[in-house]
Amino acid sequence: MTQTIIKPSAGKALLIDGKAASTAVLERVAREAEGMKIKPGLAVVLVGEDPASQVYVRNKGRAAQSCGFHSVQHDLPATTGESELIGLIGRLNADPAIHGILVQLPLPAGIDSTKVLETISPDKDVDGFHPVNVGLLATGLVERALAPCTPAGAMLLIEEAAKALQRDISGAEAVVVGRSNIVGKPMAQMLLAKNATVTIAHSRTRDLPGVARRADILIAAVGRPEMIRGDWIKPGALVIDVGINRVPGAEPGKTRLVGDVAFAEALEVAGAITPVPGGVGPMTIAMLMANTLRAAKRGAA
Ligand code: GUN
Repeated sequence: MTQTIIKPSAGKALLIDGKAASTAVLERVAREAEGMKIKPGLAVVLVGEDPASQVYVRNKGRAAQSCGFHSVQHDLPATTGESELIGLIGRLNADPAIHGILVQLPLPAGIDSTKVLETISPDKDVDGFHPVNVGLLATGLVERALAPCTPAGAMLLIEEAAKALQRDISGAEAVVVGRSNIVGKPMAQMLLAKNATVTIAHSRTRDLPGVARRADILIAAVGRPEMIRGDWIKPGALVIDVGINRVPGAEPGKTRLVGDVAFAEALEVAGAITPVPGGVGPMTIAMLMANTLRAAKRGAA
């Protein structure tokens, strides 16, 4: 990668710049897409009017366009029935101009998201949520799977930081705090595929600080603002903060974003760390574009 991703910080730890890494991925994707006979096509489906989802979906569409993709967005009202949504997915599955389909989550109450996600063709499942892709990842067939974007992006940052710190992922103690299907579980599978010794910790884990302290690679994906304190971190550890939490700011009425890690404390202990914002966050959309490119290449082969 030509971008500088690992940078010095004001503290002890190196900073892992996810914005720079995502730019590098997007540039590569755009370059490769330009050289293809077919245009990669991404369809994003939004049901309802959740403001946060609207922003995410708009950003996904913009990124697709900046990569030179064919980009379509389907906005459906919150009253859309499950069968209507499944009907749309069926048409997108059959559309040769569409290589990637993403149904933005959460779906309105009354729609069974598991059922909906299972109707997406696994070959077009650029979110990596279909049981076929989950299974490919879990059986170690990482190259064949379309992998979930956020942990795939985190993995790329881990590899860059491990290189900078001259550490091996193979044999390292990795602790993933959080067991969601979107981040925690696939993250653990990806680390396992790289031969890390992986622990998945969660809200019921006994002595969570003690478990976290064992980690050479610590992944925080719990959605609790600044839960992981500086003294939970092994000196020199590689810390990846997947959390994005909005909390009250210094001034009344203002808010700010913080991760799941108490960043200022961690900066004095960790060997390398991702900031929030500007760490794992920007990687999700970049990896979505990388997955869409891959799906298009496979479809064209
Ligand atoms: N909502 C929040 N994150 C995601 C994601 O990665 N994919 C989808 N489809 N919906 C989301």
